[in-house]
Amino acid sequence: MNKLIILLAILIIAGAASLFDIRAEEGNKGMSSGNAGNEKIVIRTDENSISKGKVLFEQLCTKCHNTENSYPKGDVNIRAPGLKGLLKEDLLPYSKKPATAENILNQLNKSFDKMPSFHFLSEDEQLNIIAFLNTV
Ligand code: HEC
Repeated sequence: MNKLIILLAILIIAGAASLFDIRAEEGNKGMSSGNAGNEKIVIRTDENSISKGKVLFEQLCTKCHNTENSYPKGDVNIRAPGLKGLLKEDLLPYSKKPATAENILNQLNKSFDKMPSFHFLSEDEQLNIIAFLNTV
C-alpha cells in the first residue's frame, strides 16, 4: 500500500515537472527569437521608423546592397542583389520565398549563404529596416 502511494507521488511530481519544462521552453522561445511564432507583421509606415531604418540600412547594408537597382540588375560596385522594390515583388530575389516582411525578418536573424545574420539588432531596429525597404 505504501509503495502504491509513493509510486503515485512520483508520477504526480514527474507530471508537474514536465509541465513546468514545457512552460520554461515556451518562455525561452518568446524571449530569444522575437517573432518565433511568425505572426503577421504590420509594416511600419510612420516617418520616424522609416528614417531610423534608413540610417541603419546605410550603416549596415549598403556595403553589399543598393536600393537603386532591383535584382537581377547588377552594379559593378555591389556584391549582392539590389533591393529596390523588394516588398513589391512576389518573391525574394535569392531564396525565392514570398517577399513578405516575415521572411525578411527571418532572413535578418540567420545568415544565408553570403548574407550575414543581423540577429544582434533588436526586433524594433529590424522592423525599422523593413519599414525603410518598403519605401524603395
Ligand atoms: C556582406 C555583404 C552583405 C551585407 C552587409 C548585407 N547583405 Fe543582404 N545579401 C547579401 C548577399 C550576397 C545576398 C544574396 C543571397 C546570399 O548570398 O545569401 C543577400 C540577400 C539579401 C536579401 C534577399 C534574401 C532572399 O531571401 O532572397 C535581403 C532581403 C537582404 N539581403 C537584406 C539585407 C539587409 C536589410 C542588410 C542590412 C541589415 C543586408 N542584407 C546586409 C549580402 C549582404
